[in-house]
Amino acid sequence: MAQDTLLFLRQLLTSPRQISAIAPSSRWLARAMAQGLGPQTGRVVEFGPGTGQLTRGILAAGVAPADLTLFEMDAEFGSHLRATFPGVTVNVAPAQASTRLEPGVGAVVSGLPLLSMPLELQRAIVGAAFTILAPGAPYIQFTYGPRPPIRPEIIAELGLKVEYGPQVWLNLPPARVYRFRKA
Ligand SMILES: C[S@@+](CC[C@H](N)C(=O)[O-])C[C@H]1O[C@@H](n2cnc3c(N)ncnc32)[C@H](O)[C@@H]1O
Repeated sequence: MAQDTLLFLRQLLTSPRQISAIAPSSRWLARAMAQGLGPQTGRVVEFGPGTGQLTRGILAAGVAPADLTLFEMDAEFGSHLRATFPGVTVNVAPAQASTRLEPGVGAVVSGLPLLSMPLELQRAIVGAAFTILAPGAPYIQFTYGPRPPIRPEIIAELGLKVEYGPQVWLNLPPARVYRFRKA
């Protein structure tokens, strides 16, 4: 785990804007993000797994490795994820490339720094998620700030319903979990 933190800090120094966080997510945040997921969820896609903190939470919830597909842009993280999570599909590719997957995905779990991205990029990423999600399936995202992590104009364009999940104090910084579904 200390090795994960070192890798995270090294990549943070290399690409601060892409990482946009001061530390990997805690195991408590990972548990809250994966709440309600399990074998019954079917295929799950994760955006921006980094060192794999949320990935661990998703697998611990009971999602089978064969049902989990990751999209991570950073090649170093990609190699680390492949070595750490056998059986999980790791794409070293942007989250927007997930549109090539078969639709009918049971959940998208995102650790992306969505609010620090330009509007068009956020629109492309969230749009990609709702292209592959099954009807009513959740897009799960945390944020450190007081506002929902998807911009209001995108929520309106896609007709999303916003669910406020738990506030996780045991994380640096504390974070809130949100779930978004197509109404
Ligand atoms: C804040 S870190 C989160 C890491 C991890 N999910 C966690 O919670 O500890 C954001 C991660 O998203 C990745 N990332 C940023 N933009 C991306 C994109 N468009 N597609 C896929 N991954 C991206 C970064 O390389 C980084 O690994």
